[in-house]
Amino acid sequence: GRLSLWGGRFSGGPADALAELSRSTHFDWRLALHDIAGSRAHARVLHAAGLLGDDDLSAMLAGLETLAADVESGAFRPAPDDEDVHTALERGLIERAGSDVGGRLRAGRSRNDQVATLVRMYLREHARTVGGLVLDVVDALMSQAQRHPAVAMPGRTHLQHAQPVLLAHHLLAHAWPLLRDVDRLRDWDRRAALSPYGSGALAGSSLGLDPEAVAADLGFAGSVDNSIDGTAARDVVAEFAFVTAMVAVDLSRLAEEVILWATKEFGFVTLDDSYSTGSSIMPQKKNPDVAELARGKAGRLVGNLTGLLTTLKGLPLAYNRDLQEDKEPVFDSIDTLEVLLPAFSGMVETLVFDADRLAALAPQGFSLATDIAEWLVREGVPFRVAHEVAGECVQVCESRGIELWDLSDDDLAAISGHLTPAVREVLTVEGSLASRDAKGGTAPVRVAEQLQRASDVASDA
Ligand code: ARG
Repeated sequence: GRLSLWGGRFSGGPADALAELSRSTHFDWRLALHDIAGSRAHARVLHAAGLLGDDDLSAMLAGLETLAADVESGAFRPAPDDEDVHTALERGLIERAGSDVGGRLRAGRSRNDQVATLVRMYLREHARTVGGLVLDVVDALMSQAQRHPAVAMPGRTHLQHAQPVLLAHHLLAHAWPLLRDVDRLRDWDRRAALSPYGSGALAGSSLGLDPEAVAADLGFAGSVDNSIDGTAARDVVAEFAFVTAMVAVDLSRLAEEVILWATKEFGFVTLDDSYSTGSSIMPQKKNPDVAELARGKAGRLVGNLTGLLTTLKGLPLAYNRDLQEDKEPVFDSIDTLEVLLPAFSGMVETLVFDADRLAALAPQGFSLATDIAEWLVREGVPFRVAHEVAGECVQVCESRGIELWDLSDDDLAAISGHLTPAVREVLTVEGSLASRDAKGGTAPVRVAEQLQRASDVASDA
């Protein structure tokens, strides 16, 4: 029959169909080494509580060490009859240390507090990996900004030409949200840094085991305050799913722009050959697949978050087997980002911008009209009037097929007595950029400061 952890009160083993449904080793096996680390820590508190003799502790730790080595080498694998990673590893320990020693380990713990702890350990490790990979994208954006300190481009709202901005300013506008995502991961870790181990099934342990000692052993800042909460809550997992989904959404926003920028119509960037793909039928094609996959995978990560929240909604306290569904979504989000992020930073790092085209398009679409209005305000004209006057300039230009800077002194004077030839100082991209010189603005001097601050934040992260 099956070697289960709960056979005692049952007259027979589970039906094949139930075993098939119940089994989780195909996705929770990745927690095996964390499970063994938890077992080591648990063995020590059993020993400290006088429930495990010196020799038994040594035998148990030796058995766990062999087991860990066999897991790592692949010599020990979950069997079809193992319900989950915890069940498989108890079998593995008993095979190595004997059933007398191996059978003592489970006292005072439950798979409920175990799995809640192991998931936190696993997520905390991968939060660091993912955070580092997000910072690589930030680095790529900052190095592109550094390489293009004075290149102007059309800034857009509603995807329409709005006002000229610096390319570096625009690129940094993608770096800041990613820096906040890294900060979110760090902040998340404060909440994830409490260990549920010792909560038992839900009510805590009667055996004098110290949850704080286990927590310290496993690299946590402390143990949870409430054993019911410790085994039942998954907000920490859901929050991780949110932050990783946010990372993907932030990447997808840049991805969409790269896809547009790489079209013939925009012609803003050329993708490096090593980060583009071809077509099996159209010999000329060079496709932005990295960006498209980023855009697509964002949907997948949002789905992982949504699925998990839906699983958690309305669950009564404490542990319910539904909670086993917490792992696959976040594992998938981690796997996806750990593959996507290196390709994405490589793509960003190797983008080649067409600086001349960007600069030539920057003042198109009457994008300096706001500069006329604000120049008038600086001359003492009320903004309502200034807006009207600048709008008239656009209308005149549009009807004649000319640009704002083509208006003659007479044209300007005819539109409004306030429009002296001095307005021309803001009718250049350089003048427009330089005038937006408050903190956070697109003036080159401010963008240089901004880049410095971004790189300070990145190196602190
Ligand atoms: N494999 C389960 C999970 O991942 C833990 C086992 C708890 N099972 C139980 N019947 N209490 O959540």
